[in-house]
Amino acid sequence: QMQTTLAFVKPKACEHGLISEILTPFEQAKLKVVGARVLTPSEVHAKEHYEAHIDKEFYQDLITHTMSGPIFVFALHGDNAVELARKLVGETDSAEAAKGTIRGDLFEKYKEGSYKPIADDKNLRMLNNFVHCSDTVENAEREIRIWFPKGVDYKSR
Ligand code: CMP
Repeated sequence: QMQTTLAFVKPKACEHGLISEILTPFEQAKLKVVGARVLTPSEVHAKEHYEAHIDKEFYQDLITHTMSGPIFVFALHGDNAVELARKLVGETDSAEAAKGTIRGDLFEKYKEGSYKPIADDKNLRMLNNFVHCSDTVENAEREIRIWFPKGVDYKSR
């Protein structure tokens, strides 16, 4: 089943220069980049993106963090793309994400370096878990409409 999913490199990960490291595992898993942008999210877009979390206690922090700087937002197309991308990303808490996942491996690599203050604080670690990735086909479609209002180019693939 060919699908398109949505992901973005979060502000702190962009600031730490991790865009290419985050993108590589998706490409190696044969997911094709069919859209990409760098932008600092507006409050409207951040809130629309995270509307499912409006009642969570971390909601305001999540919106503030999402708007705190440029993100690298990208769309991925391929077989079973939604589930595959989620598996590649790993658990929400990077400290608990398995070895071989993007969050797990980046956490191990950077927890003692400049990422340490984030790594040591559970709340910051959750908010700055390197990358966002759509959890369902419906959310992928919804999120692609938010960040790529003109659509993405997968027809040529
Ligand atoms: P993401 O995949 O972008 O989707 C929702 C985000 O909310 C999630 O990654 C985390 O960054 C954040 N999040 C989830 N749970 C918590 C939590 N308990 N505390 C702080 N942030 C959280």
